[in-house]
Formats: sequence, structure tokens, C-alpha cells
Amino acid sequence: MAELSRGSLSLRRISKNDQRAFIAATRQSRSLHQPWIFPPVSPQRFRAWLDNEERRERYLVWLQDESAPALVGYIGINELTWGVFENGCLGYWVNAPWAGQGHMKQALELLVSHVFKRRERRLHRLEANIQPGNVGSRRLVEHLGFRLEGLSPRFLKLDGVWRDHERWAVTREDWSARPRRTP
Ligand SMILES: CC(C)(COP(=O)(O)OP(=O)(O)OC[C@H]1O[C@@H](n2cnc3c(N)ncnc32)[C@H](O)[C@@H]1OP(=O)(O)O)[C@@H](O)C(=O)NCCC(=O)NCCS
Repeated sequence: MAELSRGSLSLRRISKNDQRAFIAATRQSRSLHQPWIFPPVSPQRFRAWLDNEERRERYLVWLQDESAPALVGYIGINELTWGVFENGCLGYWVNAPWAGQGHMKQALELLVSHVFKRRERRLHRLEANIQPGNVGSRRLVEHLGFRLEGLSPRFLKLDGVWRDHERWAVTREDWSARPRRTP
């Protein structure tokens, strides 16, 4: 069942039953994803990745066309922290056939609005850590109203290499004050 939806786009929690569709999509999308992100591309890695469920929420983004739902992408909220922080770190990608069509912007709008509004596990801040050369991801969060907070040198080890990341963030207050485009 869809957990969040708007129009033909929906976000549902990922499960081990999604393995086949997930891996087919990540294998097909390697040249779009790397070197920015390295999602699992084998059943073994998928299972190991999914086993680590602590302090995370993971969603698949689906698009309902006339025939069947298409797996458009993924959004994870990682490193969830409560107490005085109420913070999470976003990870996301679209799958290759769906890039550049506005789906990730729409999916993030839906999820960010939800986690800032919901009654339980409501967050106060979300961050996205982005490699400086990742023009598409920077543009995406900038257009969503995230603020560039600074550069974190050698921040994440991806594919065996410590990589610099820019820290972009948005608070609940920023989000509710952001200008909305009229359709
Ligand atoms: C970054 C990524 C998620 C964007 O997804 P997308 O669905 O193609 O983005 P959208 O179509 O929703 O575009 C959102 C905005 O970003 C802009 N944008 C997206 N990709 C862009 C690119 N490569 N270059 C310039 N602008 C880009 C769009 O023009 C759009 O601008 P708008 O708000 O003015 O309309 C996708 O390119 C991707 O999966 N990249 C590889 C994985 C990755 O980098 N993940 C993030 C790691 S931090």
C-alpha cells in the first residue's frame, strides 16, 4: 500500500520483496549514479544493505503508468537522531530512464513536507551531503530551498575513497517559509 502519494507518484517503504526490481534498476543506472552514489547491484549486497535498518527510513519512489508501477528512484533518511537534534541525512537517486523529468524534486517535496509535519518522529532538520561536482544534486536541493552550510573535507568514504562533500540543509522553519511556485 502506498504510504505517501501525489498524482501518479508514490513513496513506499522498501522491503526484501523489492530485491529483483531494485537490482535491475541500479544495474541499469550505474553510469548515472557513479561516482556520486554506489547503491547495491547484487542480491548479496542488497540483503546486507537492507539488514542495516537502525536509525533509517527507506522509501522507493514509484510511478503508476497505465500498465504497472515503474520504479523511478529511492530516498533514504539516514542517521536519524532525536533528543535535541531531530535530524536526518538524505540519500537519493533516480533510475536512469527517469532522470531529468522532475520526479525526484516532486518525491522529495512530498517526503520532506511529511517528515516536518507528521505527529510521530517529526524532524526539525534535514541535510543532504553532496560532492561539489554533482551539479544535478546541488541544483535539485537548491531549488527545493536547502541552504549551503559549508564544505566537509574528506567526509564520506565512497567506493574506497574519502570524498569532500558540501553540506546543504533545511529546517522545518525554512521549509514552511519557502516561496511556493503557483502551478
Ligand atoms: C541528482 C538526481 C537525483 C536528480 O534527479 P532528477 O529526477 O533528474 O531531478 P529533477 O528532474 O527532479 O530536477 C530537479 C531540478 O534539478 C535540476 N537538475 C537535475 N539534474 C540536473 C543536471 N544534471 N544538471 C543541471 N540541473 C539539473 C532540474 O533542472 C530541476 O530544476 P528546476 O527545479 O528548475 O525544475 C539524479 O540526477 C541522480 O540520481 N543522480 C545520480 C545520483 C545522485 O547524485 N544522488 C545524490 C547524491 S548526493
